[in-house]
Amino acid sequence: MTAKEWICGSLSAMTLALSPQLALAQQIPAEIQKGKTVFEQNCAVCHGVAGDVGGVNTKEMSPVPSNFTDPAFWKGKTDALLYRTILNGSSREMPGYRDLLTPQEIRDVLEYIKTFRKS
Ligand code: HEC
Repeated sequence: MTAKEWICGSLSAMTLALSPQLALAQQIPAEIQKGKTVFEQNCAVCHGVAGDVGGVNTKEMSPVPSNFTDPAFWKGKTDALLYRTILNGSSREMPGYRDLLTPQEIRDVLEYIKTFRKS
């Protein structure tokens, strides 16, 4: 085997090995991937990793955090409204993220929470 043949062979083997990950990355847009990280670091403690209020200390909260898997939650919710809530916080329990997240991170996390929507 020549060096060129060897390199070509190894490259195609590498491409094959990487292709499942590549395919997966293509299916999930970058902003949703980033939004997932932002969500898991900042929001999951209350809203639950699965967006269904499975958080640690949520039961005692009043009001209880919004359940993003509940179709009723999404009625009448616009991006602008949700963006403002994340920016400024809401009622007593949810902090505002104005100083903690960049506008882009807020848009990413907003795209991510929309993936919990079931209908
Ligand atoms: C300390 C707990 C807590 C954390 C952390 C938290 N939330 Fe909330 N969130 C709440 C509660 C409680 C509500 C229920 C509405 C209220 O407080 O009036 C809520 C409501 C919401 C709503 C619905 C607002 C509406 O208009 O109905 C959105 C959207 C939201 N949260 C997104 C987020 C995102 C995104 C993050 C992370 C960046 C986050 N929350 C972090 C507690 C939290």
